[in-house]
Amino acid sequence: MNRCTIFHKKYGDLMFLKFGSKPVLVASSPEMAEEFLKTHDASFASRPALSAGKYTSYNYSDMTWAPYGAFWRQARKIYLSEIFNPKRLESFKSIRVEETRTLISSLHTLSGKPVFLKDHLPQFTLCTMSRMVMSGKYYSDESKSNTSIVSLEKLQWMLDESFLLNGVINLGDWVPLLSWFDSQGYIKRMKALGKSFVEFHNSVLEDHKAKAKENSVPKDMVDIILELADDPNLEVKLTKDHLMGLMHDLLTGGTDTSAAAVEWAFQELLRNPKVIEKANQELDRVIGKERWIEEEDFCRLPYIDALIKETFRLHPLCALLPPHYSIEDCKVAGYDIPKGTTVFVNAWSLGRNPKYWDRAEEFIPERFLENDIDIKGQNFTLLPFGSGRRRCPGYSLGIKVVRTTIANLLHRFNWKLAGGMKAEDIGMEEIYGLTTHPKKPTSMIMEPRLSLHLY
Ligand code: HEM
Repeated sequence: MNRCTIFHKKYGDLMFLKFGSKPVLVASSPEMAEEFLKTHDASFASRPALSAGKYTSYNYSDMTWAPYGAFWRQARKIYLSEIFNPKRLESFKSIRVEETRTLISSLHTLSGKPVFLKDHLPQFTLCTMSRMVMSGKYYSDESKSNTSIVSLEKLQWMLDESFLLNGVINLGDWVPLLSWFDSQGYIKRMKALGKSFVEFHNSVLEDHKAKAKENSVPKDMVDIILELADDPNLEVKLTKDHLMGLMHDLLTGGTDTSAAAVEWAFQELLRNPKVIEKANQELDRVIGKERWIEEEDFCRLPYIDALIKETFRLHPLCALLPPHYSIEDCKVAGYDIPKGTTVFVNAWSLGRNPKYWDRAEEFIPERFLENDIDIKGQNFTLLPFGSGRRRCPGYSLGIKVVRTTIANLLHRFNWKLAGGMKAEDIGMEEIYGLTTHPKKPTSMIMEPRLSLHLY
């Protein structure tokens, strides 16, 4: 049984803990999630000041770790109105299409051989995001680009380390006396990581500033943020730490999350060949066998949409949502909750709550065909993107990448398990960090389904 489920079964809908001297709550039912993220959202919209935010996010200067206040509000406004608006996302579409094609072509060369998706997806999402965020890749791969600042290996390490360290329980955060000893060694790692990020982000910013002098039209997300930084009407002046923090949000927000979502979907699909069969029927009927799937096709692919929602239900990428933090005393469900309480919402348990989900442990996409269930934060039985003020601002981009990747991988290839493995042997245990990945990746074999010219 998963750790989050054990917590919920043993301690119920709302668990009160003391981490050292600090009060912590874990909310595990839809009713409790709604209390914290809707009814009392304004009181719990901050984040605790943990070491991860201090050392790896420029002293809380990104949006993810920023306390609730003027900078956070401004960052959210910038993201929603300037970065993730439909027109802007459309302008980056060609990048998403090109990178999906590159992924498919490289997988095609491996047809018939055992493949671990986790060896390909992180690089694909990193290329896609870094081209949208900062045009160039700024890291060296086989092509040994001369604009590189770090190697691909090092940047991938930085992102992996970031997701891990942002999800750990660092004892010194909760028992201040212990912070001097760093007995787990996390602070040392956070400081080293922070230093690597400063070097990287600083070089990208300087390069963009230099190019902006020659080219007045913003080309990527960093250009847009740099242009906004010059606006004298901004409520909060954007410092260099803010600029690096925002770039950090954008680069990390969509890489690990999207890659993990696709990986989980295929873990489930290979355990459920009937679902693959139905998905293929829909793809052949709606798309046919002579073309790619485009982002616009999604309104006509309800079954694919349903299997993606079902993946998010069983495998929310943040099993525990990043911590929320109360900025005032308040009364929740009859309990007095003091200012300064940290709240974790157990997204894992929400999606498996038997009161709301029939045969909750089974992978049944059909349940989403029967009911139009929202995944953007309105329905508290399913919160893969969080809810309330701190809900994910990158939803519209993240869902585009996840949908087209899963649909194109299904449409292009027939899938089977490698090495005579049986569906029931696929491991569904997780590794936890800020995001949750399969502990034991599955070796799969792909064979092309469409005409050769489509690869
Ligand atoms: C499948 C893709 C994605 C998933 C599943 C996902 C999920 C989440 C979740 C669960 C949260 C926390 C909500 C809360 O605290 O209640 C979050 C926050 C956030 N996400 Fe995403 N996300 C995805 C894609 C993206 C993308 C593409 C970006 C940006 C490029 C992004 C940027 C952020 C940021 C900046 C926050 C912090 C918001 C805040 O603290 O106010 N995410 N995301």
